[in-house]
Amino acid sequence: MISRVSLSPNGPAFSRLVYGTWRFLDDATTSNSADLLKRLHACLDLGITTLDTAEIYGLYRVEEFLGQTLRLEPGLREKFEIVTKSGIYVPCDFHPDRKVAHYNTTAARIVKSAEKSLRLLGTDYIDLLLVHRPDWLTSADETAEGLNKLLKEGKIRSAGVSNYNVHQFDLLNSRMDQPLVTNQIEFSLLHMDPIYDGTADQCQKLRIKPMAWSPLAKGALMDPAVPAAGRLKAKAQELSAKYGGATLDQLAYAWIMAHPSQPLPIIGTNKLERLIATAKSADIVLEREDWYGLWEAAQGCSIP
Ligand SMILES: NC(=O)c1ccc[n+]([C@@H]2O[C@H](COP(=O)([O-])OP(=O)(O)OC[C@H]3O[C@@H](n4cnc5c(N)ncnc54)[C@H](OP(=O)(O)O)[C@@H]3O)[C@@H](O)[C@H]2O)c1
Repeated sequence: MISRVSLSPNGPAFSRLVYGTWRFLDDATTSNSADLLKRLHACLDLGITTLDTAEIYGLYRVEEFLGQTLRLEPGLREKFEIVTKSGIYVPCDFHPDRKVAHYNTTAARIVKSAEKSLRLLGTDYIDLLLVHRPDWLTSADETAEGLNKLLKEGKIRSAGVSNYNVHQFDLLNSRMDQPLVTNQIEFSLLHMDPIYDGTADQCQKLRIKPMAWSPLAKGALMDPAVPAAGRLKAKAQELSAKYGGATLDQLAYAWIMAHPSQPLPIIGTNKLERLIATAKSADIVLEREDWYGLWEAAQGCSIP
């Protein structure tokens, strides 16, 4: 059973692995409620109780699809923690008025987006609302005003950010009535920026856990055309027997989880069998030399 962890000292308790919804409408064979219900029940059986979505996913259609599916079974929504995000606006069929893709994290926009998410998801609370990306044109006071209002009204239970650098995180955090509980960042064997740019260290300092998006580098980790993926495949084959027959994707999740900032990987597959297979990764405790061995295979060189 996947364990539960606190995202921050007074923050929400989430499952150690999170199920991501970004690609829910990408695959015609799985983008129906019957298939999604099977995956949601598989999540619950495994102990994966946290779902990650966003206003913009599926060009503003995934939240609605998720909400419709959750509503099919009374009480199903309450079995999950729902993370959603706001702040990215792109031209699309729904919004022919938009001409330029832009960020908007003004107080009024954040509140309006969160209220729309509540409606589409068919719920009266969001467990965690994230500002999806930093908006260079909005002050921290302004963004915090929107988040603080939603927190006060109980429409969101906690607030966080995504893709913020260390300074942007500090700034917004300094304006919050309740501390931000996470920074959701891209982190994988093929995208190690968080361990070099200070974001993972900041999480440790503040005792918050990052959420790791695209933990398999959007599938590039398995792409034979990617040289690092070839090296990692060979390394995974070498390590597999030692870790109970673990596959590259399972070792890749375990590699992320082993970092001392204790990231929560967000699983991106639409395939039931792959979703079920991820659970094994939570039981893998990589030995130090194996963690560095995977780092080495990814980088194509030894440590400096
Ligand atoms: N905050 C942000 O800015 C941000 C940005 C991006 C994503 N996210 C979140 O992170 C979640 C995960 O991101 P992601 O979907 O990019 O995750 P990912 O795990 O890095 O990539 C998922 C992709 O890899 C494929 N895949 C998975 N396992 C595979 C395997 N064993 N062999 C070959 N291909 C495999 C999947 O295809 P199949 O479906 O066919 O398995 C899918 O296309 C999203 O759902 C979203 O919630 C957040």
